Amino acid sequence: MAFLALEKLTKKFGTHLAVDGLSLEVEKGEFIALLGPSGCGKTTTLQMIAGFADPSSGAIELEGRDLLAIKPAKRGLGIVFQSYALFPHMTVAENVAFGLEMQGFAAVDRTSCCSTSRFRTSTQSCARRCRSSCARSSAPSAPRPSL
Ligand SMILES: Nc1ncnc2c1ncn2[C@@H]1O[C@H](COP(=O)(O)OP(=O)(O)OP(=O)(O)O)[C@@H](O)[C@H]1O
Ligand SMILES: [Mg+2]
Repeated sequence: MAFLALEKLTKKFGTHLAVDGLSLEVEKGEFIALLGPSGCGKTTTLQMIAGFADPSSGAIELEGRDLLAIKPAKRGLGIVFQSYALFPHMTVAENVAFGLEMQGFAAVDRTSCCSTSRFRTSTQSCARRCRSSCARSSAPSAPRPSL
C-alpha cells in the first residue's frame, strides 16, 4: 500500500475541469514534483491534499486512511503556498514557530535561530520569504508530507 495515494482525483470549478482523474502513488520518503503548464492543476491538486479545496470526485488516502474525512488542521500536512502567505506582522522565527505553538509547544526555543530570523517577513527578499515558508511548512509536520 502506498504512503500517499490519489485515486481518480477530479476537480471542477463550475464547468471548468481543473484536475481530470489524477491517480498517483507516493512512497514514504519519496520526493516528487508536479510539472506542467500554467493552469494544468498543480496547485489545485496540492490544495485538495491539504484540504483547502474539496474534490469533485475521487479519493485520497494517507497511510491507508481516508484523508478527505479528516479536517485540514488535523491532517498534519505542511504546505508552501504559491504566494508564500507568510504572516507579514510576524518575524521569520515567529512564522516558523507558529505551527508548533498551535500544536501546544508553549515556548519554542528560538535562541539558535539565524540572525535574519528576528526580522519581519515583510522586510525580507523573495528568496528569504520562500525559505521561511518552507521552514514554516515543515517545522510542525515532520515526518508527515510537506506539500
Ligand atoms: N478558485 C478557482 N475558481 C475557478 N477556477 C479556478 C480556481 N482555482 C483555479 N482555477 C482554475 O483551475 C485551473 C488550474 O489552476 P491551478 O492554479 O491549479 O494551476 P497550476 O497548474 O497551479 O498553474 P500555475 O503553474 O500557473 O501555478 C486553471 O484553469 C485555473 O484558472
Ligand atoms: Mg500553481
